[in-house]
Amino acid sequence: MTASARPLAFVRNADGILSVSGVSLLDIAAQHGAPLYVYSGDGIRSDYQRFANAVAPAGGAVHFALKSNSALGVIALLARTGAGADIVSGGEMARALSAGIPPEKIVFSGVGKSAQEIADALDAGIGQLNAESPQEVEAISQIAAARGVRAPVALRVNVDVAPDTHAKISTGQRSTKFGVSTSQNEAANLYRRMAADPHIAPAGLAVHIGSQIINLDPFERAYSALLAFGTALRDEGLDVPGLDLGGGIGVDYDNGTPCDFAAYGALISRLFAESGFKLGFEPGRSIMANNGVLLTRVIYVKDGDNKRFVIVDAAMNDLLRPTLYEAHHTIQAVGDYGADIGPADVVGPVCETGDYLGQDRMMPSLDAGDTLAVMSAGAYGSVMASSYNTRPPAGEAMVLDGACHMLRRQRTVSELLAEESIPALD
Ligand code: LLP
Repeated sequence: MTASARPLAFVRNADGILSVSGVSLLDIAAQHGAPLYVYSGDGIRSDYQRFANAVAPAGGAVHFALKSNSALGVIALLARTGAGADIVSGGEMARALSAGIPPEKIVFSGVGKSAQEIADALDAGIGQLNAESPQEVEAISQIAAARGVRAPVALRVNVDVAPDTHAKISTGQRSTKFGVSTSQNEAANLYRRMAADPHIAPAGLAVHIGSQIINLDPFERAYSALLAFGTALRDEGLDVPGLDLGGGIGVDYDNGTPCDFAAYGALISRLFAESGFKLGFEPGRSIMANNGVLLTRVIYVKDGDNKRFVIVDAAMNDLLRPTLYEAHHTIQAVGDYGADIGPADVVGPVCETGDYLGQDRMMPSLDAGDTLAVMSAGAYGSVMASSYNTRPPAGEAMVLDGACHMLRRQRTVSELLAEESIPALD
């Protein structure tokens, strides 16, 4: 994806301090502490609208992928902006509903929905369940029959397209656990079975080939295959109302430039404008990643054997992406701490060598208490946090229209311990 017309969400103010919507991140850290995720509500709203506008000519509904960021404040803002939700668990369903997303604008994805989750989704009137196996279609049918309802079900298919991204977030190939393959007759037979089932209202087909996809070519191949498959089913006389095109648009982790959705939108219009299918989209990262940072403070600066270690108060339990995917997040000094003096590894206090936020980064001379921002952390940051090493994960705040709102405070250690119990040990 190429650069866009929208300015960066996080920029330096006249005093050289990294800021968001005119609010200094140093002030936010002073007021709310660190580590802390800070989101640009203005940026989120603008990026959502730009995505929706880009796909509007071909029609279709946008379901924000909650797995990328499910803070209630973020979902509520997107709900107000018109977004639906793509969810993958009963927990995300509860979040979407309580943040004000209407049930009919929710799509329930995922390979392993439990009977309870399916029942709850049907009871809540969820707009669409994306089924991924014959076993799941059967389960949905039985649960719907017991309730006397027709479940709206789309079939997620696997069109065997390699998305050219990190292996752990590639979902498009036949070798992955996702979708039902279109290569033999498996997917077509399953769709025919769905169409004949009195307890299922077929909603169409779905595809999602992976995440952080920079090049449009894999999308074009997957969407063309989906379109051909859907058209063939229609030609048989089956009801195939919609095509859910998933998410996956890659973002600029180097400079934080917001996505330009125009080229993606043009591809969608070219492929689908005349197709007569209702379209659905599930963007997550492209709305959120560059609208969030993880603020962290320096605890110590340690001079190793040929290396400077900047030890900070955020760690892999707060942001797992560098450790899990070797993901690159740019790290910026929030204050004006002078010119860079040389490279450093920015590491957390967790007792693992893999606990780093960035390696070999040019950094100024830093002291304890100085504040850094791990950039592009708005997607798959806080949602993947844990309390490893009994470290309560960072809280979350959002700046909207010039004011900073706390979305979730960091839990205390006492709260963590209070969740547990010790058995009677004679
Ligand atoms: N729809 C489905 C069915 C998905 O599985 C996903 C992401 C999305 C939509 C949203 O994709 P996006 O627009 O955000 O690329 N934790 C990883 C990313 C995992 C993505 C999983 N599925 C990371 O930190 O890179």
